[in-house]
Amino acid sequence: MNSFREYFTYRNDKLYCEDVSLEEIAEEYGTPLYVYSSKCFNDKFTQLDKALSSHPHLICYSVKSNSNINILRMMQSAGCGMDVVSGGEIYRAIAAGVQPEKIVYAGVGKTTAEIELALTTGIRMFNCESLPEIERINAIAQRMKKTARIAIRVNPDVEANTHHYITTGKKENKFGISMQLLPHIVNAIKNMSYVQLTGLHVHIGSQITDVEPFEEACNRALEVMNKLKAMGMDKCTTLNLGGGFGIQYNDGNSLDIDKWAKVIDNAIKDKNIFLIIEPGRYISGNSGALLTRVQYKKKADTKTFIIVDSGMHHLIRPTLYQAYQHIANVTLREGEEIVDVVGPICESGDFFAKDRKISYTQQGDCLAVLSAGAYGMAMASRYNSHPLPAEVLVDGCTHRLIRNRESYEDLIARERV
Ligand code: LLP
Repeated sequence: MNSFREYFTYRNDKLYCEDVSLEEIAEEYGTPLYVYSSKCFNDKFTQLDKALSSHPHLICYSVKSNSNINILRMMQSAGCGMDVVSGGEIYRAIAAGVQPEKIVYAGVGKTTAEIELALTTGIRMFNCESLPEIERINAIAQRMKKTARIAIRVNPDVEANTHHYITTGKKENKFGISMQLLPHIVNAIKNMSYVQLTGLHVHIGSQITDVEPFEEACNRALEVMNKLKAMGMDKCTTLNLGGGFGIQYNDGNSLDIDKWAKVIDNAIKDKNIFLIIEPGRYISGNSGALLTRVQYKKKADTKTFIIVDSGMHHLIRPTLYQAYQHIANVTLREGEEIVDVVGPICESGDFFAKDRKISYTQQGDCLAVLSAGAYGMAMASRYNSHPLPAEVLVDGCTHRLIRNRESYEDLIARERV
């Protein structure tokens, strides 16, 4: 179930996404191209939904991981709510038809305009990260004659064993409110008439493959919930356990969801607690591949460079997090070689893989960078004035364009000429 190749498989040496040949897709839509498997998105959601079936719950897909409106629409129809972190993501979620009461809003830097938008929209709750933020929400809600439902995001100071850029639950991180400050914050909230504390939120990081950090964070959050109850916060009945569920990129493990579910079942006996989780990568990560075509094969003194038509501007994870992304030749050839797979960008950090043994490659071949569905297109840029790639959604043997390839005109469309 968890293999990163499950939805991208070879049939007679040709790589397929579900029942669609990737070589044909690349011919039809061109490269670079993001291709997504609908089945993978839906299967991962269903797996998580089943895992939480013994608790009242809502799965809020983390929009930031892959925010194409067609993906959001698909997840919304599956029953997902959304985890958003900006006005732009609220706008996307609403445009995709997500019910406002299924939207939760996190982030350390919510602006006045964003809070107004969230209140006008009528989202389910704000996940608050500081006292000044709660004060701002209270003041805006008062002006708008509304009550804002809020959850406190606590920083549980838990080690998530992941890359330091994507660790968020340690006390040196900018996220959440420290446990020590809670009594002070709760007293302040008691004096505010336009915010209502309805939940608690923890999110300790991303790409976490061990169950233990989740267990620790969950237990700390439950302790805090009990304390809040003792302080008279009896409406605080939602526990948002965040996202961060790790996937397989290579031979390593993904988070064992059944084990995770057991831990949660053991820890949370009170069925009046409404659970929220905010998975992004777990749903979108293995659902996507980035197709890119080999432009040149360049032999240098000590290395062979496979130079492709995509790079760090379309998938920044290898260079930003030293992340492994598996690379498969769309048409498998005999033999293997050790190469650097690099892009056209004028930076030495522009690579997908270094000293990687991959199947033998020739100029003109199409390569698939796997597990690129999360934080791929969502973090893509137009650096060096390369237009953004197109995106295609596969469903069984059908496929459709869900984002047009950008043109050169698009590059300067917002500039005043
Ligand atoms: N909830 C909150 C509050 C978050 O900050 C995040 C991710 C998520 C949920 C979803 O996390 P996920 O389930 O996808 O791990 N660009 C990095 C990952 C950054 C994650 C940021 N926050 C990467 O490519 O690895």
